[in-house]
Amino acid sequence: MAGKRPLWDHADVPPRTALEQLASPHGWPAPIVALALNRLNLSLIAGCAAALRLGRGDRAADLGFGGGRSLRFLLDAVGPDGQVTGIEPSSAMLRYARRRYPSHLERAGLRILEGTAGDLPLRDASQDGLMSANTVYFWRDIDAGLGEIHRVLADRGRLAIGISESDEQLRMGFAREGYLVIRPEELVERVRGAGFRDVRLGRRESGRQGAIISARRGARD
Ligand SMILES: C[S@@+](CC[C@H](N)C(=O)[O-])C[C@H]1O[C@@H](n2cnc3c(N)ncnc32)[C@H](O)[C@@H]1O
Repeated sequence: MAGKRPLWDHADVPPRTALEQLASPHGWPAPIVALALNRLNLSLIAGCAAALRLGRGDRAADLGFGGGRSLRFLLDAVGPDGQVTGIEPSSAMLRYARRRYPSHLERAGLRILEGTAGDLPLRDASQDGLMSANTVYFWRDIDAGLGEIHRVLADRGRLAIGISESDEQLRMGFAREGYLVIRPEELVERVRGAGFRDVRLGRRESGRQGAIISARRGARD
């Protein structure tokens, strides 16, 4: 019917409840949010996983994995001898991932752990790569989060953070909800300030797909 509009037209600012679901998927919509995140963010997630340049047997983590599509990319990259850790504060997303990957959990190739950027449930220097796509807006403290990531990466470890362009963040209504709005260039400076090396900014094809900031922890690969 002419003039009839969908409930959440992406051309509009999403309603508050939709934004709350992005920051903290919960309740009955959570499985739908998981599927939507996996689909809408696929290119950014794949780009972050690739930017870690993982090899067989590596240990990698995704912080704020949401629907968990990233976990499959990371598991494929590290192979059967590697280990992948998915970290999430949302109990609904933790449950969703545990249901989705039972065989990987059983053979210990995958760990699904509760945690946040400010408090990573990982040992010092234990990871060869850590990615986080579309989560920084919700971190309590960016510098503390980057410090935590620096702590858990091994010297040759890599970081990849995916974010939307700042005009997209504003269009989505992040500022209105009190979430952080940050330009990719500013995040690059914060990553440098946290002590990472070789910090790079890769732009995606379209604004909606955003940017990937990648870096190394130590001086050498
Ligand atoms: C927009 S979703 C992105 C999910 C997934 N990374 C993706 O790109 O599709 C944001 C995710 O960040 C998680 N999150 C919220 N606060 C966080 C924090 N302080 N640290 C880590 N993750 C957080 C949420 O639970 C949610 O799953």
